[in-house]
Amino acid sequence: MNDFVARPEHGIAWISGASSGIGRALALKLAGEGYKVAVTARDHEKLAELQSEANELSGSIIVLDGDVTNAEDMEHVLASIEYEHGALALAVFNAGVYLPVHAEELKREDFEQSFAVNLQGVVNCLVPAVRHMKGKGQGQIAFVSSVTGYGGLPTGAAYGATKAALINMAESLKFDLDKMGIRIQLINPGFVDTPATRKNEFPMPSLVSVEEAAAQICAGLKQQSFEITFPKRFTFALKALNLLPYSLYFWLVNRATGWQERPRADRHRPVTPHPAE
Ligand SMILES: NC(=O)c1ccc[n+]([C@@H]2O[C@H](COP(=O)([O-])OP(=O)(O)OC[C@H]3O[C@@H](n4cnc5c(N)ncnc54)[C@H](OP(=O)(O)O)[C@@H]3O)[C@@H](O)[C@H]2O)c1
Repeated sequence: MNDFVARPEHGIAWISGASSGIGRALALKLAGEGYKVAVTARDHEKLAELQSEANELSGSIIVLDGDVTNAEDMEHVLASIEYEHGALALAVFNAGVYLPVHAEELKREDFEQSFAVNLQGVVNCLVPAVRHMKGKGQGQIAFVSSVTGYGGLPTGAAYGATKAALINMAESLKFDLDKMGIRIQLINPGFVDTPATRKNEFPMPSLVSVEEAAAQICAGLKQQSFEITFPKRFTFALKALNLLPYSLYFWLVNRATGWQERPRADRHRPVTPHPAE
């Protein structure tokens, strides 16, 4: 058991994927609480805007551009934090993409990109972060996963697979990180209103604002629980659903999402016979 809570006096808080949505709101929230927050994403303009927006806050924003799929970029970001700004105290690995998958139209690239950003991207940040924290014998790390990682859902074959892997990765790492003085947590939000979810074509129950999500995450980072999840009524219901026998699980998810009644994703395409037929 490790109870380290990173406070502003311990050093820098680093957030990946902070140019929009949850990461951006969390950066502003932490800067408002006095943290020096290093923010990483590919869109420099958006990060610079975020930095100006935080001008009046008690903490500050440090812009460190980078692509999480590039391991060298992440090594540079970490080196810049540690050698130019201060010790890395808190790291929130939040960068992620949601690419819906329809089994009727499988595309290899959707899986490759999802795995590269959501999974390998986290590993690329994790390796240098743990190396630096290990030297000091303290630190706090949080993975932004999702309740979609609890069990399979329609369109989640790539996204949900990466989030399930992150849940397992965090659980597995906890055994060793605890002994190293590094506290690891999992952030599993339900639906949050961000540019990523605004394109969803289905109803999103219990949708929360990014400000609410940032407040919940900030509070959770100061508590001892391994998992930070919200809104609790929705996320606990999903967790309970995953304890059911598969036959009941698939029936209930089909019913709740109306998936069975939806037309197939390839219905609009003309059916061309296979040349061999
Ligand atoms: N919104 C929800 O309902 C919800 C629910 C559960 C979990 N989540 C998770 O929360 C996290 C944030 O999602 P969001 O909804 O806030 O999405 P968002 O508004 O689309 O933000 C995604 C962030 O990730 C960054 N990013 C994407 N690819 C990157 C790359 N290769 N390198 C560096 N940064 C990259 C984006 O920045 P650039 O494009 O500038 O690089 C952006 O800042 C994701 O991990 C998502 O899976 C979201």
